[in-house]
Order: sequence, then structure tokens, then C-alpha cells
Amino acid sequence: MAGRLSGKVAIITGGAKGLGAADARLFAAEGASVIVTDVDSANGEAVAAEIGGQFRRLDVRHEAEWQALVASVMAEHGRLDILVNNAGVVEIGSPETITEESYRFVMAVSLDGTVWGCKHAIPAMRAGGGGSIVNMASIASIQGEPYVAAYCAAKGGIEAYSRAVAVHCAQGRMNIRCNSVHPSGIDTPMVRSMPEKVAAAALPTLDDQGQGAGLNPLGVPQDIAHMVLYLASDESRFVSGQAFVIDNTASITEGIVPGGEGNSARQGQHHGQ
Ligand SMILES: NC(=O)c1ccc[n+]([C@@H]2O[C@H](COP(=O)([O-])OP(=O)(O)OC[C@H]3O[C@@H](n4cnc5c(N)ncnc54)[C@H](O)[C@@H]3O)[C@@H](O)[C@H]2O)c1
Repeated sequence: MAGRLSGKVAIITGGAKGLGAADARLFAAEGASVIVTDVDSANGEAVAAEIGGQFRRLDVRHEAEWQALVASVMAEHGRLDILVNNAGVVEIGSPETITEESYRFVMAVSLDGTVWGCKHAIPAMRAGGGGSIVNMASIASIQGEPYVAAYCAAKGGIEAYSRAVAVHCAQGRMNIRCNSVHPSGIDTPMVRSMPEKVAAAALPTLDDQGQGAGLNPLGVPQDIAHMVLYLASDESRFVSGQAFVIDNTASITEGIVPGGEGNSARQGQHHGQ
């Protein structure tokens, strides 16, 4: 039986671990030729080998690397149908403690990477008659998460930029769609690294990263990968310029986020990266 992505060529950034690796596995199972990209070559090579895909080292911050990657994919596969701008990083810092270095790092990986990815994917997709771009944002673009302020800014930028890309492509009749995905806390290496980062920053207690916290337990990477698959596939052919929240109500319940003073008794209930 044909897979939901049969015959399609997909680039996934940050595909070595976490959500990107889950996307890569699901895409390959649905028939796509997957190009796993990351700065983590060891894990990226392993994921690519496991799914019968390819690994290319790509640091999403650098436009020249994007140019070279897309050119090599076009030379080898002759088409590009799907881009998942998934690579992202998080740094601790409130609006008062944010540092220039951590702010620039978070913005460069998450927002700059998405901008360069879209720029170079669009002409390649257009040459093949269309495509789908899926940009990983977060509920951090919706609910204020003051302890990761730069991350909120980057994810808000990604949400807005996705709409600009979607309208640009629609106006140009390119048959290229672009949407953003906004998860709450999902069990990945990024989330597992948070307690150590929070402790190093000496924030007010952050109890349990949301795990087992009643309404808002952590999700698993597959919870997000199934949405990414839908948006990448032709099933979503009439869906573009939208922000999809996957958070088991986290962003519409009390809105308490960790790190705030005076709410330590309730901390840990929401924690979206
Ligand atoms: N896990 C969550 O709870 C959660 C929630 C909302 C949004 N997100 C977003 O989903 C995406 C994936 O998150 P994750 O939890 O899987 O993170 P992760 O840290 O587990 O994996 C991210 C991957 O990106 C790679 N990466 C980092 N910098 C890079 C760069 N400059 N160029 C290329 N690759 C780079 C890392 O090597 C890693 O393999 C991120 O954009 C993240 O912000 C995650």
C-alpha cells in the first residue's frame, strides 16, 4: 500500500534526536525519502541509517550551508517536497537577566534557521510544482514563559514568519504551504536538560517539568510527529498559514508558568519548550 508520503523528498532539521528524529522515522515509514540534518553527526547518521535515509551535516544558522544543502538535494533527488524546520535551542533568561550571547544564540538557531530554510526551499519546491513547509514553534509563543524569554521571542517570530511565507507562496500560486506547530512539554533531550539549566540559573523551584502534573503531563515525540505528518502530506492541501497547538489544554488552562515569584506551590503544571 502506498504510504502517505510516497515519492516525496523531505529535509528535516535537528533530526538527530527528539522531535526531529520522531518525524524522520514516521516520514520514512510513510514512504518519504528523508534527508536527516543536524549538527550532531553521530546521532544524525544513526537515525538516517535506521530509517534508510541520508544524513547531511547542516548548521541551520548559516545561509551558505542551506544553499549548499538544497543544491545537493536537488542534484541528487531532482526535487524537494517537504521541509521541517525543527532545529531549536532553549536558554534560561528572564526579560531582566537575558544576556546578549544567549539571546543571539536562541534567535540564530530557531528563527534565523527557519528564515534561511524557507528562503532556499521555496524555489526548489516551486520547481517541482509545490511543497509543504512545517515550522516548529511552541506554546511559548502563546503563553508568557519568562524564564525562557528569548525562546518565546524566537517562537513568536517563527509563528509570524510562517504566515508571511504562506501568504507569499499563495499569492505567487506556488502550491507551497507553510504552517507552524506549537507543542507543550514533550519528553525529549531538550526537556530532560531543563532541570540542570534551571538549577544552574538558580531560579525559584521548578518542581517536576510538568511530568505527572494532572492536566498537563509531558507528551511523547510521536504526539507531535503525527501532526507534522499530516501537514507535510497532501491530506492538508488546503491548509496553510495556520498555527497548530498540541498541548492537551496546557495553553488554555490557568496559564501558570514556572519561574514566577509567589506561585511556587503551583509551579510545574505547565512547561512548554
Ligand atoms: N520538547 C518540547 O517540549 C518542545 C516543545 C515545543 C517546541 N519544541 C521545539 O521542537 C523542536 C525540537 O525540540 P526537541 O525537544 O526535539 O529538541 P532536542 O534538543 O531534543 O533536539 C534538537 C535537535 O536540534 C539540533 N540542533 C541544535 N542546534 C542546531 C543547529 N544550529 N543546526 C542544526 N541542528 C541543531 C540538536 O543537535 C538536536 O539534535 C525545537 O524547535 C523545539 O524548540 C519542543
